[in-house]
Amino acid sequence: MTTTTQSTTGTGPLLRVRNLTVTFTGNRSAPWRRPGTTVAVNDIDLDVAPGETLGLVGESGSGKSTTARAILRLLRPDGGTIEAAGFQVDSFGRRVPAAYRRAVQAVFQDPLGSLDPTKVIGDIVAEPLAIHFGLRGPERDRRVAGLLDQVGLAAHHARRYPYELSGGQRQRVSIARALAAEPRLIVLDEPVSALDVSVQSQVVNLLEDVRERTGVGYLFVAHDLAVVRHASDRIAVMYRGRVVEEGPADRICEQPAHPYTEALLAAVPDPDPARQRLQRARRRELSAAAPVPGGVSASGCPFAARCPHRMPVCADSFPEWTPVTGGGRVACHLYGEPPTTPEDAR
Ligand SMILES: Nc1ncnc2c1ncn2[C@@H]1O[C@H](COP(=O)(O)OP(=O)(O)OP(=O)(O)O)[C@@H](O)[C@H]1O
Ligand code: SF4
Ligand SMILES: [Mg+2]
Repeated sequence: MTTTTQSTTGTGPLLRVRNLTVTFTGNRSAPWRRPGTTVAVNDIDLDVAPGETLGLVGESGSGKSTTARAILRLLRPDGGTIEAAGFQVDSFGRRVPAAYRRAVQAVFQDPLGSLDPTKVIGDIVAEPLAIHFGLRGPERDRRVAGLLDQVGLAAHHARRYPYELSGGQRQRVSIARALAAEPRLIVLDEPVSALDVSVQSQVVNLLEDVRERTGVGYLFVAHDLAVVRHASDRIAVMYRGRVVEEGPADRICEQPAHPYTEALLAAVPDPDPARQRLQRARRRELSAAAPVPGGVSASGCPFAARCPHRMPVCADSFPEWTPVTGGGRVACHLYGEPPTTPEDAR
C-alpha cells in the first residue's frame, strides 16, 4: 500500500493545511470541567508558499504548538489534511518516512532541552549529515564548518558543549542542525521566546539570511506579535483553536480587522511610556477577563466571551471568512454579509 505521495517537481504549496482538527482526551488546563475532550485545534487552514514565512501568533493555549506538532507528525490529528514539502502527511501510517523527517525540520524554544548535553556542537550538527546523506570524515567536517559559519558561529564552537554557549548561540546551533538536513520547511516553535530582546532580533535576522540563501520556508510560531511581524511575510492569528484572521504581516499589524488581533496589538510594547502604561492596564484587563480554559466552543466565535463588539449571533455560529482590504481575510460577524441564522429569524 502506498501511503505517501511526494512531488518531485518542487512546485505547488510548501505547506497546505485544511480543516485541521486536534482534540485531546481530558482537559489539562481545566480538569474540573466535564471530562471529555479539549478541542486544541478546531478546523484550521494554513498555507505557506515555497520560501515564505508564515507567522502563527496567539496567546498561550491557543493551539499553536499543537498545530506545529501535527505538521511535524509528532501527533496524529483527528481530522483534516496536511500537505507539506510534497508529502501527504495525513496519509502516513505509524512510520513517518525518513524523507519527510529530512524535508521538514523543527526548531524549538529551549535549545538546551533539545541539544544532547553529552555531545559537542560539531557532533550535534554532524549527526543529520551522517543520517540523511551518509557523510563521513573530512567531507562531513567541512560541511559542519560551513554550517556553523552560515549561522554566525566560529569554527572553535564545534568543540564546545551546549552548556558552554549562550542561549542565542545554542539557538544558532539548533538552526544549523536543522539546515544540515537541507529541509524545504522549518517549523519554528517559539524559537526566540527564551532569548533577550537584542538577541531575538539577531536570530530573526539570521533566519531571514538563511531563507534568502537557501529558499527554505518557515512556519514561525510565537505568542509575541512584534517578533512575529519582524519574522514573517504573512501572519495567521489563532485564538482558542481557531484561526480568526490572516493576511500580510504589515496589514495585520497596521490595520487589524479582528477584535482579538487588536487586543494582541495592544499587548505589543510601545516605546512611549504613557502608552506603555495604557497597554499594561489593557493586558491586565484581558488576562483577568479570560484565562484561556482548555476547551474551545465548537460552534460560536471563540472570542465571544471577551469581545467588546459581541452580538447575539456571535455565540452561536463561527463567522464566515470575509476578505479584508489590504489583503487576507477575517472571521468576524462585524464584517461581510449580515449573518442569517435561525436565531436571527426569530
Ligand atoms: N497533551 C495534551 N493533553 C491535553 N491537553 C493538551 C495537550 N497538549 C495541549 N493541550 C491543550 O491544548 C490547548 C492548546 O495547547 P498548545 O500547547 O497547542 O497551545 P500554544 O498556543 O502552543 O500555547 P503556548 O503559547 O503556551 O505554547 C491547551 O488548552 C492545552 O492545555
Ligand atoms: S464574531 Fe462577534 S464576538 Fe467574535 S470577534 Fe467578531 S464581533 Fe466579536
Ligand atoms: Mg506552544
